[in-house]
Amino acid sequence: MRKELLELIPEFNLIRDKNLRERVLDIWEYALKENNLEIEDLLEMPFTLLIENPPANIISHTKAVTLTSLRIAEAMIDIYKERILINQDYLIAGALLHDIGKLYEFIKEGGKFVKSRVGKIIRHPISGAAIAYKFGLPEEIVHIIAAHSKEGETVKRTIEAIIVHHADFVNFEPFK
Ligand SMILES: [Fe+2]
Repeated sequence: MRKELLELIPEFNLIRDKNLRERVLDIWEYALKENNLEIEDLLEMPFTLLIENPPANIISHTKAVTLTSLRIAEAMIDIYKERILINQDYLIAGALLHDIGKLYEFIKEGGKFVKSRVGKIIRHPISGAAIAYKFGLPEEIVHIIAAHSKEGETVKRTIEAIIVHHADFVNFEPFK
């Protein structure tokens, strides 16, 4: 499954720290297994239930948010140099995991994805943060996952979380 995941999302390889990269992959594998999902299911899973016929599945959305985040960071580092500090590994890991909770929030029923029982009471930023904690990821990455959506409006987001939050919304709002 790891090999297939890496083929679909080669962006995992953008994480430079090998240990972190492996743990991010472990989380994807764990979330798939826990929800009895196959890779093929991910290709059918919409990234949101709020848009009818969304332009991306969960995989392409995750890739888009990761690459958007990285390019924002690159542009900012280019201009601001040492005046801005962005941890690129945290940024990429956070972007790759920001919607991992959707594997818990959505469930396939009668050939289409709907809100799961868990999804109705625990939104994906919360379940995603919980899994990241379980796997011992740095709190900075837990923060990116927990704060990427409206839940993050009540905390002061880090620079990495600000970037992922906006990268997520530019890959959502135009399609609404
Ligand atoms: Fe997202």
